[in-house]
Amino acid sequence: MRFHVLTLFPDAFGIFAHYSIIGRAVERGLLSVEATDIREFTADRHGTADDYQFGGGPGMVMKPEPVFGAAAAALSDTPAAERARTPVVLTSPQGRTLDQALVDEFATAPGMVIICGHYAGVDERIRQGLVTHEISIGDYVLTGGELAAMVIIDAVSRFVPGVVGSEENVQEDSITSGLLQHPLYTRPAEFRGMATPDVLRSGNHAEIERWRRHKSLERTLRLRPDLLDTAPLTNSDRVYLASIGWDGGQHA
Ligand SMILES: C[S@@+](CC[C@H](N)C(=O)[O-])C[C@H]1O[C@@H](n2cnc3c(N)ncnc32)[C@H](O)[C@@H]1O
Repeated sequence: MRFHVLTLFPDAFGIFAHYSIIGRAVERGLLSVEATDIREFTADRHGTADDYQFGGGPGMVMKPEPVFGAAAAALSDTPAAERARTPVVLTSPQGRTLDQALVDEFATAPGMVIICGHYAGVDERIRQGLVTHEISIGDYVLTGGELAAMVIIDAVSRFVPGVVGSEENVQEDSITSGLLQHPLYTRPAEFRGMATPDVLRSGNHAEIERWRRHKSLERTLRLRPDLLDTAPLTNSDRVYLASIGWDGGQHA
């Protein structure tokens, strides 16, 4: 999968694309993260990528021509059929909040173009003429779209086959599975007076699975009861939830 990031700060992606799971996936050719410097597509020798707002007001606005130019250059060697299936994402606090459904949708694309805004934001013609999806990473405002782009790339990459060791792990994670994950323990068995539950060291796999499922349900009920409205629950899950105080749901 090819991620094309359009940014005024391409250096910000250097470390990101070369460490840990993303870095290994890039090395193995499963992903590429190519940061295109928007400033290279400016028309003047000062590399002016932003300008004052028409109508007045604080903050500079990113100009449309360099962003359109950077997008065309980033996709120049992408075949037309692939290009048509490549989402062009604008990072923006005004967008739809990134969630698992969007991550799943993006993970099936051959690549993505991600535009990082800065300053007061981007010229509206970029939304009108270039962008297919406007995505927020949460209800707060960042200084620029670079961190949002990294969040999107990281979340989507985990669903590109082969990037994360075992596909099963990805599906069992919090949110993806529909619930929050059960508590995790590793050695030492006892740490500062806090013991690992005996069942996890019992070797009884059926009991371990039951304990994990119950803890996952308990944790979800306590922290994210809204998830229970859509989680894939079995009858015995429902019985257990009722026994710990679940009222049957619809917290949305
Ligand atoms: C200071 S913000 C501009 C906010 C803009 N004035 C507004 O009110 O919508 C600068 C850039 O950071 C990025 N950004 C800020 N908050 C974001 C969020 N929650 N999710 C994704 N991108 C965000 C966007 O690329 C945005 O263009």
